[in-house]
Amino acid sequence: MFSFTTMKNTTSLINAINYRRSVRVYDANKKIDSAIVKKCIQQATLAPNSSNMQLWEFHHITSKEILKNLAEACLGQSTATTATEMVVVVVRKDLWKQRTKTHINYLTKLFSVKPSNEYSKREKFALNYYKKIMPFAYGDFFGIYGYIKYAISWLTGIFRPTYRQLRKSDMRVVAHKSAGLAAQTFMLSMAAENYDTCPMEGFDSLRVKKALQLPTKSQVNMVISCGIRKPEGVYGERFRIPFESIYKHW
Ligand SMILES: Cc1cc2nc3c(=O)[nH]c(=O)nc-3n(C[C@H](O)[C@H](O)[C@H](O)COP(=O)(O)O)c2cc1C
Repeated sequence: MFSFTTMKNTTSLINAINYRRSVRVYDANKKIDSAIVKKCIQQATLAPNSSNMQLWEFHHITSKEILKNLAEACLGQSTATTATEMVVVVVRKDLWKQRTKTHINYLTKLFSVKPSNEYSKREKFALNYYKKIMPFAYGDFFGIYGYIKYAISWLTGIFRPTYRQLRKSDMRVVAHKSAGLAAQTFMLSMAAENYDTCPMEGFDSLRVKKALQLPTKSQVNMVISCGIRKPEGVYGERFRIPFESIYKHW
């Protein structure tokens, strides 16, 4: 499905970055190819993500009925009501055990050419990472264990630099950061195809979950409308605050 490339083609990336705008009105007469949208989702899965845990799901919606339900759940925003298709990025932090198992199986198979007592330091570390560190980071009991880990890291932090973001709320941020990167990778991939998108956080998460029959423990990261822009669908020139005011060079 994927291939490595060493080709340096920054022009197309810059074009995609400039082309991407949040589009609020799509042209109902211009269809998009669902296969291309799917390809862009595949590209989104190549986004960097925390510990490569891939605690995400991408729901690609083309069904008219579900699109209608989602548009309502997105508070009737025009970008949702005029969308040709939608993609919902969902955080599945609850799948951490399954993901660690997948990693352990993958690594064990990868290293299986030799007995385990001959594993290199790096190989041992990789296996331990998924066997011990990930359960430590993601394991929790109603948020209580998270506070204990937080206290341990705070105490350790008095003596040496340590990782501190271990509470339930911190792990939620960790998972959403990665999902956000995947969402942006998807939108840039779409822009490279001259397809338009608009990320949305203005939605009723309960209704979105109901429309997609998502489990209670899942979290909706972003709903992304897709289509081809109408000229009036882009609300004016891009506005950004002066670069000098947000760029700090140390
Ligand atoms: C996390 C996130 C949530 C957003 N939610 C909405 C939304 O609910 N509705 C909307 O019309 N635009 C939404 N936007 C789009 C922003 O308003 C838009 O990115 C910003 O105004 C900059 O414009 P540009 O994307 O065209 O560069 C969202 C963007 C992000 C990143």
